[in-house]
Amino acid sequence: MTQEKLNELLKDMSLEEKVGQMIQLPAKVLTSGGLVTGPTGTTQLTKEQIGMAGSVLGIKGAEKICELQKQQMAKQPHHIPLLFMLDVINGFETIFPIPLALGCTFSPEMAEEACSVAAAEAAADGLHVTFSPMLDLVRDARWGRVMESPGEDPYLNSEMARAMVRGYQGDLREKDKVAACLKHFAGYGAPDGGRDYDNVELSERTLMEDYLPAYEAAVKEGCRLAMTSFNTLNRIPSSGNKWLLRKILREKMGFDGVVISDYSAVEEMVPHGIAADVREAAKLAVEAGVDIDMVSNAYAGHLAELVRSGEVPEKLVDEAVLRILTLKNDLGLFEEPFKVVDSAEAGKILLREDFRQKAREAAAASFVLLKNEGILPLRKNFQSEEGSIAWIGPYVDNREIYGAWSFPKRPEETVTIKQGVEAKGLRGMSFAQGSYVMDKGCATKFGRIPNPSDEQTDQWLSEAVALASSSDQVVLCLGEHKDLTGEAGSRTSLGISEGQMELLRKVRQVNPNIVTVLFCGRPLAVKEIAELSRALLVVWMPGTEGGNAIADVLFGDRVPQGKLSMTFPRSLGQVPIYYNHFATGRPNPSHEIHLFRNGYMDEVTAPLYPFGYGLSYTEFAYSEVKLDRREMKAGERITASVTVTNTGDMSGVETVQLYLRDPSASVVRPVRSLKGFQKVSLAPGESREVSFSIEEPMLRFYDIDMNYVSEPGRFEAYIGGSSDTENGAEFVLV
Ligand code: GLC
Repeated sequence: MTQEKLNELLKDMSLEEKVGQMIQLPAKVLTSGGLVTGPTGTTQLTKEQIGMAGSVLGIKGAEKICELQKQQMAKQPHHIPLLFMLDVINGFETIFPIPLALGCTFSPEMAEEACSVAAAEAAADGLHVTFSPMLDLVRDARWGRVMESPGEDPYLNSEMARAMVRGYQGDLREKDKVAACLKHFAGYGAPDGGRDYDNVELSERTLMEDYLPAYEAAVKEGCRLAMTSFNTLNRIPSSGNKWLLRKILREKMGFDGVVISDYSAVEEMVPHGIAADVREAAKLAVEAGVDIDMVSNAYAGHLAELVRSGEVPEKLVDEAVLRILTLKNDLGLFEEPFKVVDSAEAGKILLREDFRQKAREAAAASFVLLKNEGILPLRKNFQSEEGSIAWIGPYVDNREIYGAWSFPKRPEETVTIKQGVEAKGLRGMSFAQGSYVMDKGCATKFGRIPNPSDEQTDQWLSEAVALASSSDQVVLCLGEHKDLTGEAGSRTSLGISEGQMELLRKVRQVNPNIVTVLFCGRPLAVKEIAELSRALLVVWMPGTEGGNAIADVLFGDRVPQGKLSMTFPRSLGQVPIYYNHFATGRPNPSHEIHLFRNGYMDEVTAPLYPFGYGLSYTEFAYSEVKLDRREMKAGERITASVTVTNTGDMSGVETVQLYLRDPSASVVRPVRSLKGFQKVSLAPGESREVSFSIEEPMLRFYDIDMNYVSEPGRFEAYIGGSSDTENGAEFVLV
């Protein structure tokens, strides 16, 4: 439809119809079996309002979507097609690694591919919009939603943002593309105490410098929707924050897409305490620029009356509705409201073999090898007399190895570790599953996981220990249950369940040759796990092909190449902890406990494993940083290079990282800021020169007057395989 036709349609619509376009229904008011992603029982809409709604959240299934599209369009005076939206966060049916793991690949290409597969499957199944990418910068592992973020760095998150939007979008009329929705705008990842939905206090400088860049990158890449966050930002709820939504998002960043609130977030401005009632909440939201009210009664119950009373200019409604109609039009829905590939076809697209292969590659590349005392890669074949490998723990044969925002229709398609190992047809492998781990307080957000009896626990434990003592090596498959992560998944501890720790300690008593494979949705405090293991591989929540990818990496068919996208603390007390911190007036570079220096009395300040860290099966040597010049003016560039050599006897993939530091500026600057990365694959003995171009825009920041500028002076450039590299050189901006 042309823009002119859209304008005519808008003009012809009644106020009730226009307001209907601004209402998003939860699946359950239209059908049974929809996905519930928030508090239920709050929707009090009339039949007419339900009939007028412009979009639906939480429905999966081509047939169901087509049936509802038909049913709802028939009720609409202008038969306007609905938008069907869903959280496709880490894949749709072929489940990919969680976004925090995808960040560890340091591969925007892989992220783009993952989102392109997700879009193809979701669109084939009838969806039009995904509530992804989530781009909240995260520094506090207590917050359950860190698993949805690409990580703690503005630059890496921005690269991932661009790639993910490219993967989802493209020509939205295509049958394998969906509209993307950046979220949660803004700053949701920094709640007080790591408590979900809590207040966020950020200076404007920190907000601009660290938290907004990734959202802006998504906007610049053409992301079509933006979702407001639940939190207050400096005591103003985002859904009523005119400065944030109109000044920053639309004017400064240039966003011209659709703003949708988070789930019932408009109505929640009442308990937040800035709206006396839902009617006022509706007024605040539409004035701030929220176009769609997700699953609250605010717009449905009050917006038309607010317009009729003259308190809200109808112009605000018209602007919002035109943005919604434009999105529908760009998706081609007016011409093709049933834009699904027919379900038989959808069946052929979902879980397609090449999609599974991509998921397997992405999973393997997302794993981070934190420790390896010469035990990995595992030998492939043990002649029975030579020894064996015992695979022990609750994740040996467990399908729940995908992220909390995964809704596979066929979870049985998930490949477990046991299946992945057996698929390699190796001798000398023995397995002990044991589900004793979900014990002693392993209560998740959906309630306590059924505890086995003590007798059964003891039996499983003794079986596991007996197997460990009679094997050469043990692979312990442990983890944080997926229902301990994600939304409403904040924790005051960063461990795995006590039953698993007991298993680890008991196995260690009979066999020191332990490889621990750790599933988690956040950085955990893994000091004791690392001490008791000869190798520690973090596999996050790897998704459908997790078992195959883990077997690939453990047996060396794939090399570990992941680098941490979020810092692993030594202990909970260090959190929030992140690499791009400030030196302070009493720096503690040695990260030891020093009197009267930055840090703690009872713990060093250094993390256990820093951002950007990850081991390989080989070693990489870095030459000193070479600069082709020591001075540059704005408009010029300096080329910084290193030679990286694979000094080991196995091939490997290294992520070479460039960090810059401005040691003296009009405001203090982080001790390191990631400004570039490149992945290189090197055979044993092979060397490669890796160069980065340093240009003046990379040196810019919000100065003492909040101007985004660079300042002349001394700078340091570091290039290495982790954020704590000291391999650096100085240059001057004149
Ligand atoms: C949830 C989440 C948001 C999600 C939305 C729809 O509460 O905060 O990330 O996209 O509701 O499911």
